[in-house]
Amino acid sequence: MREAGKVTALILAELGNVIKPGISTLDIDRFVEKVVKEHHMTAAEKGYCGYPANVCVSVNEEVVHGIPSRKRLLREGDIVSVDLVVEHKGYMADAARTYAVGRVSEEASRLIETAEKAFFNGIGFAREGCRLSDISHAIQTTVESAGFGVIRDFVGHGIGSEMHEDPQIPNYGRPGRGPRLQRGMTLAIEPMITQGSYEIDVLADDWTAVTVDGGLAAHYENTVVITDGEPELLTL
Ligand code: MF3
Ligand code: CO
Repeated sequence: MREAGKVTALILAELGNVIKPGISTLDIDRFVEKVVKEHHMTAAEKGYCGYPANVCVSVNEEVVHGIPSRKRLLREGDIVSVDLVVEHKGYMADAARTYAVGRVSEEASRLIETAEKAFFNGIGFAREGCRLSDISHAIQTTVESAGFGVIRDFVGHGIGSEMHEDPQIPNYGRPGRGPRLQRGMTLAIEPMITQGSYEIDVLADDWTAVTVDGGLAAHYENTVVITDGEPELLTL
């Protein structure tokens, strides 16, 4: 998982230079495919429950699971979320970032920053002895106090030899609930947040989740290991 995580982190960092006005969302998929192959690893989203691409690319009001397309060109002012799972020797790492395409509105950059901040406030509780929902609660509090919404229909999750393992990790809820965290647990923690309402619809492609009100959405995810001290971040 550490090795898969390193490649995931490398790709997400390099995408910061790849993503610019005029490229298509398929260009992002091709870049991911190329770098994963160079490292003799695989993009685990491909074929997962029939998902047709190497990576999820979601633009503006698309929250998650956007399908890369040659026809979807990024424009100055867009925001784009990239969610990637790399598999190596049967083990997974899962991470997501939202990128600004050129210059974006102040509200859009505040949304992107809030998703990241919510993740880091959340993992303040990713420690042995804490309860799972302590993470959830810290994420919700951060997002809502910034005036944004927390998606209810998708959650973080355990991860290992499967992309999605128990437990589910909602990005909302009261603290002090759920399993007690133990060292060695590997979790994908992933706030998905919206500018307005958190309600979503799924488009006719059966994958792309969009905000019902058309507001922007942002996503920030890392795979973390619970230790006896600070959590270890595998995808940063
Ligand atoms: N990577 C997503 C997550 O963070 C799952 C995507 S499933 C796919 O859990 F099929 F859409 F790729
Ligand atoms: Co995930």
